Amino acid sequence: MENNRGSWSSRFGFLMAAVGSAVGLGNLWKFPYLAGENGGGAFVLVYIGLVVLLGFTLMLAEMTIGRHANSDAYGSYNKIKKGWGFVGGIGILSGFLILSYYSVVGGWVMKYIVASFTGTGTDKAAFFGNFISSPVEPLVYHLIFMGLTAIIVIRGISGGIEKASKFLMPALFALLLVTVIRSVTLDGAMEGIKYFVTPNFSEITLKVVIAALGQVFFSLSLGMGIMVTYGSYLRKDEDMEKDAFIIPSLDSLVAILAGFAILPAVFALGFKPGEGPGLMFITLPAVFENMPLGSIFGALFFVLVFFAALSSSISLMEVTVAFGIDKLKWSRKTSVIIFTTLMFIIGIGASLSMGEWSDFLIPWIDGKSYGIFDFLDVLTSYYLLPLGGLLGALFIGFVWGVPNAVKEIKIGSKFVTEKLWSILIKFVVPILVFLILLSTTGLLDKLLGL
Ligand code: PHE
Repeated sequence: MENNRGSWSSRFGFLMAAVGSAVGLGNLWKFPYLAGENGGGAFVLVYIGLVVLLGFTLMLAEMTIGRHANSDAYGSYNKIKKGWGFVGGIGILSGFLILSYYSVVGGWVMKYIVASFTGTGTDKAAFFGNFISSPVEPLVYHLIFMGLTAIIVIRGISGGIEKASKFLMPALFALLLVTVIRSVTLDGAMEGIKYFVTPNFSEITLKVVIAALGQVFFSLSLGMGIMVTYGSYLRKDEDMEKDAFIIPSLDSLVAILAGFAILPAVFALGFKPGEGPGLMFITLPAVFENMPLGSIFGALFFVLVFFAALSSSISLMEVTVAFGIDKLKWSRKTSVIIFTTLMFIIGIGASLSMGEWSDFLIPWIDGKSYGIFDFLDVLTSYYLLPLGGLLGALFIGFVWGVPNAVKEIKIGSKFVTEKLWSILIKFVVPILVFLILLSTTGLLDKLLGL
């Protein structure tokens, strides 16, 4: 692996692969419903604030670690400082758990490609609810989605997905714009637009901040070593400072467009914004139904969501698979087959927890109990990814040393934000993430309450 690691064929190819990993269900499915559940504009404002403070900083940090060490997530940390590979290890575990339920949602998207033609009936919420809670059909789609991810990862990523992303990402963008225009011009859309763009400061609660932080990590693919891995394939003259600005900006732009595609329609069509995970699946079919050639647009749209999900899921799987290859010395094929099987099985639990197994709840340290699907989401987005990010920042600040990281960045970049970045990575990111993590666990409340 050391001798033959390869590198990105072009800067554009790298950017598209990184954007392909970042832009996915997190932007199109999760962001709008989280905004809907957490006060609309209040959530959007906190989210953007955290992207500016943490997103850019950690994106650059992870890429720098990878390019310097030139190895996978586990190996890169370990190479720079022996004994720190566990930070990459936490990321690998996160990727494994995320993909288990991500694939279930990927399956829902595939179902909706089909349903664009076969129809979703008059009661969209009931259609969605019945589908995800049924015992067999979602599992079939989950299996197909997992299988497709496996096939691509077995073949290696470069040719297919890099090429495909270059075409698909711009296409997704164009169709998203069409959907936004349709949604914001519906009768009654204004209320939704207002809800989405007006931050009501009294609604900025701890819950909103926690949700936004988890979403920043999830949506930017941070805290789990993907950007370390992708950074390891970068050339030394790459301007990482610019990349770390472009990737989060594009990712946030897509998330915000998704909000404009979905939330105005929610209000116009008389749904509630706090609908949860069903938001995209319930509103968009209704939006498309109101359009000329709606079923074609609808199908196309969900096809692109599907590709966005797939380009993210392969990056998730690649992190785990690379660990099987590098550390456990398995062949790529063995590694893919074993991990796919395990993820598929955990995903069965996630899917069934939407119906048959909804009574099976897992108690958690925050005092709440979660079904399997929610548990995987909460554990990864709100705990493991922020923890990975926190440790990554501490690693640079206090183990590897900011000056060493700066030296690496400066090889290919002017690094005009050097001073700011140095302070952010050493102090602001660790303190902020630590405090939010602490309150996520409920410990902060207890400490303050004492
Ligand atoms: N960022 C991806 C999305 O928004 C999901 C993802 C999370 C991918 C973590 C890789 C790592 O859908």
